[in-house]
Amino acid sequence: MVTPGREFRAMTVPAKHAASDGPAAAPASLPAGFFSDRTNRIGTENAFKVGPYIRAIEDAGHRVIKCNLGEPDFHLAPHIVAEVKRCIDLDMTHYVDPQGILPLREAIAVQVSRTRGIAVTPDRVVVFPGGKPSIGLSQQTYCNPGDEVIYPSPGFPIYESFTTYLDAKPVPLQLREEANFSFTGTDIEPLITPRTRLIVLNFPSNPTGGVATREQLESIAAVIQRKAPVNTRVYSDEIYENILFDHHRHLSIASLPGMAERTIIASGASKSYAWTGGRVGWAVFPTVAEAVIFKNLNINYFSCIPAYNQMGAKVALESPESEISIATMVAAFQERRDMMVAGLNAIPGIHCGTPGGAFYLFPSIAGVCESLDAVEAHAKLPVADHDRTSPSTLFQMFLLWQYHVATLDRGSFGRIGSAGQHYLRISIATGLEDLKRAVELIRKAAGDRDGFQSFVREGKHLW
Ligand SMILES: Cc1ncc(COP(=O)(O)O)c(C=O)c1O
Repeated sequence: MVTPGREFRAMTVPAKHAASDGPAAAPASLPAGFFSDRTNRIGTENAFKVGPYIRAIEDAGHRVIKCNLGEPDFHLAPHIVAEVKRCIDLDMTHYVDPQGILPLREAIAVQVSRTRGIAVTPDRVVVFPGGKPSIGLSQQTYCNPGDEVIYPSPGFPIYESFTTYLDAKPVPLQLREEANFSFTGTDIEPLITPRTRLIVLNFPSNPTGGVATREQLESIAAVIQRKAPVNTRVYSDEIYENILFDHHRHLSIASLPGMAERTIIASGASKSYAWTGGRVGWAVFPTVAEAVIFKNLNINYFSCIPAYNQMGAKVALESPESEISIATMVAAFQERRDMMVAGLNAIPGIHCGTPGGAFYLFPSIAGVCESLDAVEAHAKLPVADHDRTSPSTLFQMFLLWQYHVATLDRGSFGRIGSAGQHYLRISIATGLEDLKRAVELIRKAAGDRDGFQSFVREGKHLW
């Protein structure tokens, strides 16, 4: 089941150049002010940043357990592969409708109507190269500088990155471990102002695995309807809609009365069908007029998405065989989740909740940071290192370079307001045996105070 090409893919992620986990810095050879102000404000997705580090460690002869990846470690199902090949053979290799080919938009409209209990027509659907582009394009479309975007933190880093890029105002909704990283309308209410243009929701959530209950969504919807300006859009990122554990069923805020009219439902093929390389995602807009704007953005940016992949996505959405491959994948994730949650909670200094969906764990490592003296070690770092790291970054890097387990730190999921929060994101999109070994290595690293201190003193790989 595990994808053989994965090792290769992990090695071919973009090399570390300008962008780190903060704004891009101009290389020394370019004059100050060379890049636009907005370019200096964009962030990145660190899941891609650690790839070259992994490659360097592997080149030195070590095997790295990759708990950093946001893609399922499963093959694209044969019925989807066959359709993509068939369509290439049919010469579907030319420009097509920038909004997305009609057969796919029809399939999306049917699937979203059925699963959300709302009436969606294909003229409100726009297809994008993956689930990611509609995030930034929505911010561009709805926000002027100074307009406000509310988004969960920890959350998918692109929500914050694009907000700052566009000079909109980031308004992170800080999620608390004590509340299982969950929130209600009461938490969101004080953040809503007359300038709120977008409210981003993401269930099941990356990185916390949080799944919303009906009561929770009802309380969020009630507050939005009462307090948000009428032109506020909810951007509901539902890309993990099919990866749910313990027999949960996906519930979208768009299914609640009065919410379809103000919600953009975003999803895609990357996670549900283990097809991150297919680059097919979509969004359903509340009005046709909005879909037309996004179609024009597609024309401006990339013209269209390959027709053969769109046909593959149509088959993915329509074929009963997809349900079987999704169920197989979810069962594997659930088994790994159960093993990992138990294993991590048995390590002194780590506390890990049980995610209801997606394929990530988000344990607190506060106790480990304390026993390794990571907070003090971080406080003593030279400013340049200090500002680029956190205690959780130091542990993440120690784990990677000394124990060869790749994870991501808290700051990779929204930097604003994250100081003092000590978490790691551990992806379980890696085989069970490797994950068992990862738990053992994390245990060893968490108890290796001397090793950690000398790693920090050496200062070679701190970020
Ligand atoms: C919450 C969330 N939204 C969107 C995306 C982007 O998905 P895609 O690879 O289809 O662009 C991801 C990928 O990790 C994600 O976690």
